[in-house]
Amino acid sequence: MASKRLLTGITTTGTPHLGNYVGAIRPAIAASRNPDVESFFFLADLHALIKCHDPERIHLSTKEIAATWLALGLDPDKVIFYRQSDVPEITELCWILTCQSAKGLLNRAHAYKAAVDANVAEGQDPDYAVTMGLFSYPVLMAADILMFNATHVPVGKDQTQHLEMARDIAQRFNHHFGEVFVLPETVVQENGDVLQGLDGRKMSKSYNNTIPLFLAEKQLQKHINKIKTNLLEPGEPKNPDESTVFQIWNAFASVEQSTDMRRKFAEGIGWGQAKKELFELINAELAEARQRYDALLAKPGDIETVLQAGAAKARAKAAPLLAKVRRAVGLYPLD
Ligand code: TRP
Repeated sequence: MASKRLLTGITTTGTPHLGNYVGAIRPAIAASRNPDVESFFFLADLHALIKCHDPERIHLSTKEIAATWLALGLDPDKVIFYRQSDVPEITELCWILTCQSAKGLLNRAHAYKAAVDANVAEGQDPDYAVTMGLFSYPVLMAADILMFNATHVPVGKDQTQHLEMARDIAQRFNHHFGEVFVLPETVVQENGDVLQGLDGRKMSKSYNNTIPLFLAEKQLQKHINKIKTNLLEPGEPKNPDESTVFQIWNAFASVEQSTDMRRKFAEGIGWGQAKKELFELINAELAEARQRYDALLAKPGDIETVLQAGAAKARAKAAPLLAKVRRAVGLYPLD
């Protein structure tokens, strides 16, 4: 068995965009090809319920995200790829961990505190619209991780506090009931690959400035044409380091292509031309995967089959550890 177990979850509330692809999906799929690492990828649909109360959105997003990862080459025979809600062991562990989690610890969680602070700032009751789901979010995340004794968890900076809490909860459990859980290490993804969006800020659903990953060609072209530029005319030299067009170019370009475009900027390439070339570059990288994506979306039953096989593998891993946990806390047969 590989000694390094990498685990990561993707909350199923949105449609993947180029920023997700460059910053998270592409590097994760590349890393999953390393035979020395056992990789767990899951659709965090129970987490999605915390912030999204629109059943259709959750359902569609689950389908789109699953199709995206498969279309981009995640190999479900080499990794464990599953939907969180298909693994009831996780929710059971979540409750057991809830009973070990200090309320004072969870009071400090950023997401919960931000909601309370916003309420107070607006003169509302501090707990207005705060659910127990939001409050307990870090415990569910700890259960996701500890259920598989993951050793490495790649996350964005905003999630590091949750990882610390998972370690805290694991430590407390181990201290009380004996060594059951591995303490997971946080792997902060700090590759410079934060993509800029249409308006030049970080590409993010909350800024409404994204380019969805698998747009049809015409739509992709249209979105790229909307990337904000300055008013310099063709023939006037342009600064690549202040340009979103160039920043996105770089995320898809080889070293030579990057140098080449830098030179073209200096030579005064027109924005229209630069965007046309950017479209071609991105499209070349995504066209085949887009075909697979469209084919998968047309046959959601095929995606479901993959997820069910993944859930069976995940449950086979989870069951022995859950049995150990149950025994440790005193839940086991009488005879
Ligand atoms: N909360 C994470 C996010 O919003 C998603 C997630 C859920 C996760 N469970 C996890 C990530 C376990 C890593 C490990 O990005």
